[in-house]
Amino acid sequence: FVDMSLRPKMFDQYIGQQRLIDEIDVYIKAAKQREESLDHVLLYGPPGLGKTTLANVIANEMGVKIKTTTGPAIEKPGDLVALLNELEPGDVLFIDEIHRLPKTVEEILYSAMEDYFIDIIIGQGPTAHPVHFPLPPFTLIGATTRAGMLSAPLRTRFGIIGHMEYYSEGDLTKIIERSARILSSEIKEQGAHEIARRSRGTPRIANRLLKRVRDFSEVQQKDAIDVGVVDYALNLLRVDKKGLDQTDRKLIESMIRFYNGGPVGLNTIAANIGEETDTIAEVIEPYLMQIGFIKRTPRGRVVTPEAYEHLGIKYENNEG
Ligand code: ADE
Repeated sequence: FVDMSLRPKMFDQYIGQQRLIDEIDVYIKAAKQREESLDHVLLYGPPGLGKTTLANVIANEMGVKIKTTTGPAIEKPGDLVALLNELEPGDVLFIDEIHRLPKTVEEILYSAMEDYFIDIIIGQGPTAHPVHFPLPPFTLIGATTRAGMLSAPLRTRFGIIGHMEYYSEGDLTKIIERSARILSSEIKEQGAHEIARRSRGTPRIANRLLKRVRDFSEVQQKDAIDVGVVDYALNLLRVDKKGLDQTDRKLIESMIRFYNGGPVGLNTIAANIGEETDTIAEVIEPYLMQIGFIKRTPRGRVVTPEAYEHLGIKYENNEG
């Protein structure tokens, strides 16, 4: 998996999310001084901001092993027991998409997190019997796109809650320059900054665009990635000056064309452009809201004048 090498392993390689990193750095130092496991960590924020990367960095900084799984992969309580059974004291269990854990699994996680034991029923009918599993102290790191999707009992059992935010253009520029070095690719500061501007505040997108731009740059036999080849490649990829892609523009344009810019409900928009409601709510919309192109109102989503201007459409909505 090529991407893995672009991911930072330790805090000193990690760029951005500075406030959160500084905070977690303290909790790790304190836990190490007390020779305890780190308290459970919930990471939430839009996809691609490095929740999995940060979970791995935390385990590396703690000097422990990490086991990785996802909410929907743990189907029954026994699956969770099997995972927890393999942990050594202090190890990290990382559960991505933790909001998609089955309810039965979530409920046995409570005692595992709080008191390091699990009670489950083994077998069925007359042979069914309760079994008590003591667990080593461990750190659960959960990741989710929105903290609000977790039940209160689960959310409140995390001692550390980390909100990941979109990266600034400055931090993304540094990430792109670091990635280019790892890929042995020469990049001009202006070129890195242009990719950063068009990466939706998201390192995963920045690194993907860097690789595609590098392909164009190499085929054109340039000795460095400059702003010219970045602009050429990203225009071909239909990534516009603000980093919006075809799906972003389709969403805004159909809201304008069919609903006069809104207000319009999420499900209606989803049906209109043929995307999953969840994809719109968790992937597409958060960035459009962040840059002020879409606003949420009690009656639905509305397109802002800024978005009209960006798309070169005359603003005529007088409802929003
Ligand atoms: N690559 C992806 N995300 C990164 C980050 N936050 N810091 C450094 N390199 C990265």
